[in-house]
Amino acid sequence: MGPISFRRLTEGDLPLMHRWLNTPHVMRWWNSGGQTMAEVAEKYLPYITGAAPTEPYLFLCEDTPVGYIQTYRINHWPDYARHIGVDDDTAGLDLFIGQPEFVGQGLGPAVIRAFLREVVFGSFGARSCVIGPAEDNHAAIRAYAKAGFRFWKRAVVPGESTPEYLMRITVADLAEERATP
Ligand SMILES: CC(C)(COP(=O)(O)OP(=O)(O)OC[C@H]1O[C@@H](n2cnc3c(N)ncnc32)[C@H](O)[C@@H]1OP(=O)(O)O)[C@@H](O)C(=O)NCCC(=O)NCCS
Repeated sequence: MGPISFRRLTEGDLPLMHRWLNTPHVMRWWNSGGQTMAEVAEKYLPYITGAAPTEPYLFLCEDTPVGYIQTYRINHWPDYARHIGVDDDTAGLDLFIGQPEFVGQGLGPAVIRAFLREVVFGSFGARSCVIGPAEDNHAAIRAYAKAGFRFWKRAVVPGESTPEYLMRITVADLAEERATP
């Protein structure tokens, strides 16, 4: 696997996002984005322009975009935050690998750890990070454990069909290199 890098999502990336969001392995677990091009633009353009408080990135492998990753202060999304219960220094994190041939090769944990270092605990300045896969998304839960996240608690979020299996990692945890490859 080549070097991983990150760049901000741009308007020009939306057709790629539209393609990825209509790929079966993504559609199964990622339901916040819509399937038409108009829905994709409606969802992600506010992130790109800064009108909504989510920081959107692509991750690249050897300079080829292979997936999408985003972070945000959980408390900047009040409807979600009241079901989670965190301080202002806690970020949320979500991602998907868009290119199906990159799934299941250990890329997700490597991307997450690099993104935590460079962005979430780096430029974004959070002190802890929470990720909330559906409790039946076993591949994601395993990938996040390999990245160093540990189970925190379950949360029922209105509009989601299954409870979120919340996992957490702090700056100190990442520094301790407690990942379990
Ligand atoms: C979740 C995701 C980011 C994980 O990244 P990844 O690089 O695929 O993760 P890994 O390769 O480390 O695999 C993690 C676990 O998934 C399982 N897995 C591996 N290949 C798999 C496959 N082809 N199909 C299903 N599960 C698989 C294994 O249990 C593996 O653990 P192991 O390495 O101990 O055997 C990625 O799979 C993905 O984007 N999935 C689709 C969208 C999604 O679920 N997003 C997360 C929403 S919370």
